[in-house]
Amino acid sequence: MTAPTLLAGPDFRPAGRQDLLDPAEVALAAARLDGRVRHTPLLPFLPGLRLKAEHLQHSGSFKLRGATNAVLALQADRVVTGSSGNHGIALARLARDLGIELTVVLAAGANPDKAALIAALGARTVTVSGGVAERELRAQELAEASGSVLIPSSDHALVVAGQGTVGREVLADCPDVRTLYVPAGGGGLLAGVCLSALDHPVRVVGVEPAKTPRYARSLAAGRPLTLPPSDTVADGLRGQRPGTVTYPVVRDRVDALVAVTDAEILAAAELLARHGVAAEPSGAVAVAGALRHRLTDSPTPAVAVVSGGNTPAALRAATAQLSLTTLHALEEQSS
Ligand SMILES: Cc1ncc(COP(=O)(O)O)c(C=O)c1O
Repeated sequence: MTAPTLLAGPDFRPAGRQDLLDPAEVALAAARLDGRVRHTPLLPFLPGLRLKAEHLQHSGSFKLRGATNAVLALQADRVVTGSSGNHGIALARLARDLGIELTVVLAAGANPDKAALIAALGARTVTVSGGVAERELRAQELAEASGSVLIPSSDHALVVAGQGTVGREVLADCPDVRTLYVPAGGGGLLAGVCLSALDHPVRVVGVEPAKTPRYARSLAAGRPLTLPPSDTVADGLRGQRPGTVTYPVVRDRVDALVAVTDAEILAAAELLARHGVAAEPSGAVAVAGALRHRLTDSPTPAVAVVSGGNTPAALRAATAQLSLTTLHALEEQSS
């Protein structure tokens, strides 16, 4: 194992202080991520609607932003997380590069191709028998028992600040954007985008699967609610409750929440594929919301975040490539 090398970076609040979130933290995250994550392009899609292409991000999703920001700031050498897959993949890539010991806890029914890639990257995986709420509890227990740093997939100030760089790039590249569609699972990306857009007149629209409308329900109730486990096709958006860090940020800034059905999510992924954009279902959720909203008159220009491209084909190709690399290394050692 190599020693961690990516530990320098701008100062941040001490680890553990997650209660305060300041928009300046998105700028700090952007400085920390510079040169380590892709500034992804805005792609033309339909009249008045462009795509923020996070399916082209290293690791296949925006999750690399929050994961990298947290790992660099916390200087962790042993990490535990609970993940539906993409955050785990992003952390596993970092862990492999930096020599960090990583355990990823997965919920029952987690995407098997994502789990296989996480394991192929060298992380330990643990699967619980319940949903996301149980997964998060187990991750916390494992972190405490092993003295590891817990880096949650969304409910952490450093993760939110890292994801906020998505919004920061959109506003820099398209300052006249009027509506920004963002998928909401645990809400790390939505909270980050809300933070980056605090002083900008853009309408921020969060899009949730209709099977798990945790933000819409919680905002209506005036407090975070826990929903039952979900089986939505958007496997990255099965989180059962808003986070304690993310909820107030979203509550105070989001302009609207839209719920989309699984059929709409799959139709959006299909339409994206016909335009040459390979999005996984979770990655197509915001586009599904934008397509539904276009029927009403939502202000344009609009941008929808394509948040992930880890389709089964992409995941299997990445896992096969890793296995080949490992095999070659073993052959070279034995020759
Ligand atoms: C591709 C993709 N999009 C969106 C999300 C939701 O992100 P968040 O949990 O930050 O709301 C996830 C979460 O795993 C994801 O993998």
